[in-house]
Amino acid sequence: MLGLSATDQVFILTGAGISAESGIPTFRGAGGLWRNYRFEEVASPHAWQRDPRLVWEFYSMRRRAAAAAKPNPGHFALAQLEGDLQDRLFLCTQNVDGLHEQAGSCRVVHMHGELFKSRCDTCCRPPFDDANTFDPTAEIPRCECGGRIRPHICWFGEVPFHLDEIFRARGECTVFMAIGTSGVVEPAASFVAHVRGRARTIYVGPEEPANRFAFLECHLGNAGEILPDLLRA
Ligand code: OAD
Repeated sequence: MLGLSATDQVFILTGAGISAESGIPTFRGAGGLWRNYRFEEVASPHAWQRDPRLVWEFYSMRRRAAAAAKPNPGHFALAQLEGDLQDRLFLCTQNVDGLHEQAGSCRVVHMHGELFKSRCDTCCRPPFDDANTFDPTAEIPRCECGGRIRPHICWFGEVPFHLDEIFRARGECTVFMAIGTSGVVEPAASFVAHVRGRARTIYVGPEEPANRFAFLECHLGNAGEILPDLLRA
């Protein structure tokens, strides 16, 4: 158990590892997506300019995998924690699947976007729900303005979403917990360094992350096995 006080403000950062037990591949481990794809070719503005079909095919493949996945006990434990702590919990995810929401989390901040949303690459029409997978024989979908419809994802070289809100919550937290993230992708990898020294810092995952030095506690194991006990009220 975490042993939280009645005034603790908890910031949770999740990464691909929280969804690994649901069957969604991580990025850097064995079988990780970046072992089989070059992110420059499928997840960057340059890739979108050069070969939007290839980009859509990559995200269609990921939409299919995420649509078939179910939340695991790690997601459910975090949803339960939100029920217990209400607005004293800030849940920030780098994941683009919807498994936190499927498990019952209501206030999830998706800093890298959402797989089941699309937006226009040209006008400022807001992102919209879109679970469609791209038919490789079809044209790239177009917006009314003539722009192309793209996945609502933060690609390499783009600025993550909701950073003002995230930095505010990071500044207020007394407990910071990262779960299933390798600690190499910025800006998320540096969040812990900002709170270290004034907040209790905890990592959960099967191996030590690259930024291990900044965590006071490291619980080694699968999120789905550790979190239900660790987060019990
Ligand atoms: P990574 O693939 O870099 O790291 C996944 C982490 O999850 C590793 O540290 C694993 O040890 C851990 N892990 C594996 N199985 C686990 C389990 N059952 N329980 C808990 N942890 C487990 O993924 P991220 O750190 O999330 O960005 O990657 C960060 C960003 O890099 C992603 O959001 C994505 C990627 O490129 C974009 O696409 C913009």
